[in-house]
Amino acid sequence: MIVMGIMYGKKIRRVKMKNRKKIHDDWETPKYLLDELCGEFGNMFDPCPLNPKCDGLKIPWTKVNFINPPYNRKDKEAFIRKAYEESKKGKTCVMLLPVSTSTKIFHEIIYPNAEIRFIKGRVKFKGYNTKGDLVENKCGQHDSMLVIFRGKK
Ligand SMILES: C[S@@+](CC[C@H](N)C(=O)[O-])C[C@H]1O[C@@H](n2cnc3c(N)ncnc32)[C@H](O)[C@@H]1O
Repeated sequence: MIVMGIMYGKKIRRVKMKNRKKIHDDWETPKYLLDELCGEFGNMFDPCPLNPKCDGLKIPWTKVNFINPPYNRKDKEAFIRKAYEESKKGKTCVMLLPVSTSTKIFHEIIYPNAEIRFIKGRVKFKGYNTKGDLVENKCGQHDSMLVIFRGKK
C-alpha cells in the first residue's frame, strides 16, 4: 500500500508502508553534537550509520563507538544491550537516546552501568518528516540523553 511521498528536490517519490519504519528510524545526529563528542572522546566508530553495509549488531565494535540507534523499541534495545556487552570487552560506547526512565532496560542496563547526561534543550535532528519533506531542525518529541558505557575489563 502506498501511504506517502518523499520530496527529493522537486520530485516526489512514493514510499511504501514498509519504508515508514525506515523514515522514523533515520534521524541524523546533528554535526555540532558529533563535533562536541569527538572533541571529548576522539574518533568514534558508528555501527548504525544511515546506509549500513552490514548488521551493526553482529560485528565487533571498536575502542570508542557512537550509537544513535533506530528508535523503534526492538532495535533500540538491541543496540543498548550490544553497547553494554561491548563495554564489558573494554570498549567505550556513547549512545544518544530518547529519555525514557521508566523502562525495564533503563533500570536494568542503563542506570546501574552507564554515565547518563540529560541534554539541555531539544536536539535538532535532520531527516524526512511524515509529509516527506527533508528538514534539518526537527526537534524530537522527546528529550534526549547521552548514555556512556565506559570500557571495562
Ligand atoms: C537514528 S539513525 C542514526 C544514523 C547515524 N548513526 C547518525 O547518528 O546520524 C539510525 C540508523 O541505524 C541504521 N540501522 C538500523 N538497524 C541497523 C543494523 N542492524 N545495523 C546497522 N545499522 C542499522 C538505520 O539505517 C538508521 O539510519
